[in-house]
Amino acid sequence: ATSGLFKNEPTADFTKIELRKQFPQRLNDIRAKIPVTAPLFINGRDVMTDARFASVNPALPEEILGTVHRADRTHAADAVASALTAFPSWRDQPASKRGAILQKAASYARRHLVELAAWQVLEIGKQWDQAYADVSEAIDFLEFYSQEAIRLAKPQLLSNAPGELNFLNFEPRGIAAVIAPWNFPLAISCGMTAAALVTGNCVVYKPSSLTPLTGRQLVEIYTAAGVPPGVFNYLPGSGDDIGDYLSAHPDINLIAFTGSAEVGLAICEKAARRHPEQKGIKRVICEMGGKNAAIIDEDADLDEAIPHLLQSAFGFQGQKCSACSRVIILESIYQEFTNRFVAAAAALRIGPAEDPGCFLGPVADQAQQQKILDYIQIGKKEGTVLYESTKPESGYYVPIVILGDIKPEHRVAQEEIFGPVLSVMRAKDFGAALAIANASKYALTGAVFSRSPANLERAAREFRVGNLYLNRGCTGALVERQPFGGFGLSGGGTKAGGKEYLLQFLNPRVVTHNT
Ligand code: SER
Repeated sequence: ATSGLFKNEPTADFTKIELRKQFPQRLNDIRAKIPVTAPLFINGRDVMTDARFASVNPALPEEILGTVHRADRTHAADAVASALTAFPSWRDQPASKRGAILQKAASYARRHLVELAAWQVLEIGKQWDQAYADVSEAIDFLEFYSQEAIRLAKPQLLSNAPGELNFLNFEPRGIAAVIAPWNFPLAISCGMTAAALVTGNCVVYKPSSLTPLTGRQLVEIYTAAGVPPGVFNYLPGSGDDIGDYLSAHPDINLIAFTGSAEVGLAICEKAARRHPEQKGIKRVICEMGGKNAAIIDEDADLDEAIPHLLQSAFGFQGQKCSACSRVIILESIYQEFTNRFVAAAAALRIGPAEDPGCFLGPVADQAQQQKILDYIQIGKKEGTVLYESTKPESGYYVPIVILGDIKPEHRVAQEEIFGPVLSVMRAKDFGAALAIANASKYALTGAVFSRSPANLERAAREFRVGNLYLNRGCTGALVERQPFGGFGLSGGGTKAGGKEYLLQFLNPRVVTHNT
């Protein structure tokens, strides 16, 4: 560990009977109180609106989990104004004080871990273990960033000429708009907001409209920890409306966004456009999509590769920017790998995430379902179907589909599908496999299964992605151990959960003393 202090939150241990019992209990608790109401939260107060929308269970869309108040531009303006008012005093707190508040937030989330996770099971169809991991990652971000902020707050003495002392220090940028995705609805929301807050910025947070109730958990967590009014504002609403408004607002100094490349690029454009009242250049921190490949070398250990790839391709229904959506297989092992992989995929059950026997749950909503089904039709025309599962009839489910004979130029080899659809491709040798893997606009994660030290070394040099895993699946980066994020259309090269991440949220200053 960097400082010897940070430790990742442990993963769920379902050998413990208490934990196995807790999930159904917490799910029952939620069902006893739904539909809940989620008002906006501006300047330390709940704000009710006339416009509302529902958050539903994607496995059972008629089950309404909550009614969510919808912010419009007037609310967004109020939130920015309250953040501006709160800023000077939050900026001037010692970093240790802000760090202590975030550590309290981490303790609160740890105490409520299963309850927080259970909401994700119902709101977005996350399996127990994955929902638990999401909350654990949120706790990791709170702990890690608070430690890093305290480290960065010490002025650094730079090399000095005689008669001169130079110190480098950092101060917050100002007001951050945080625009979050639905797929890691607490972890990524918490990571982006915690990074902004602990470095002294104030936050206007827009959760995804598919996970506003999970997003609202941050209000409870930060308020319980003592984040002052105006410092953290919660603004559920439409991306086209308030997302756009915040991106263009002259008082927003930085935007932290995780989501699709299309939306991320649109935010960059809006943030860059000149505003008559602008006082600075907005910093945009973008984490976007992936079209991640795994290479199966001739001598790969298939007993390792197959379970890892099932998890990377189909875990949480393939709805991770890190998910594996292309497998590139060396000719000589193609038949053996595909036979075994298809047989293993055929054993996976699909059903509600609240049933721990199901490996896959529903996808996020009807629009995602339709998009994936459309890609399945495209893939069937471009290649051949090696496997297609059945799926439950009602609820937003899609089948697992494994497509063979896919060529690098095919749409299903190039476009992000964000579902359990895997494109299988052949390569004549390891160099060709690397060329196919790199032939993508995205550059997020990748995996190589090989026993050849020379090929593994070559992949480490030439497989150009932000997170490369050798003899391991390509999802599940851990805070501090695998700082996460890519380049190309996958993002700006920032690394969530890494040492340098907080620098994005800070302005550097140098103070020189003539002595
Ligand atoms: N950090 C996640 C993973 O590595 C993706 O957001 O799977």
